[in-house]
Amino acid sequence: MYTGIQHLHSGIAYLALLALILVIIYALIGSLSGREFTEKDRKIALIAFILSHIQLLVGLILYFISPLGFSLLKGGGAMSDATARLTAVEHPLINIVAIVLITVGYSRAKKISTSRGKFRSIYMMYAIGLVLILSRIPWTSWLN
Ligand code: HEM
Repeated sequence: MYTGIQHLHSGIAYLALLALILVIIYALIGSLSGREFTEKDRKIALIAFILSHIQLLVGLILYFISPLGFSLLKGGGAMSDATARLTAVEHPLINIVAIVLITVGYSRAKKISTSRGKFRSIYMMYAIGLVLILSRIPWTSWLN
């Protein structure tokens, strides 16, 4: 079960990061071109929104079954070890903040009346979310 969820979390990470990058570029181009924000644009932004929420759910499950998540906190000493602190505290917390920002960007775009404002809400909030996510990925364990 643990290995399956770990692989799922790792696999969705590729999809979620790719979707975020593409949506940011797409919304930025939409804003710069001055074109109208359409239903298709909303659906494209929704793909990255959904993938990041699925990743949040899988991440929460992983947190409680992984030896690198909550169990490190219970064991104590996680805060004084940088590697343990990353997966047990920083990665989960910062990613939750990032996904909240992505949610705000998507939801606010629906309420804003101008097309440029809608595009801007998506690319700004998704970009801040992406930077936060990238800043706290356990790169060494992921890419090895
Ligand atoms: C968009 C958000 C997220 C992304 C892109 C992401 C990505 C990743 C990646 C790439 C890894 C390394 C996987 C590996 O070494 O095979 C990882 C590990 C981990 N993530 Fe996330 N994550 C996200 C959100 C979360 C959240 C919200 C939580 C918990 C609440 C979480 C909990 C964990 C844990 C506990 C590990 C260590 C798992 C292990 O190797 O045992 N993640 N994450």
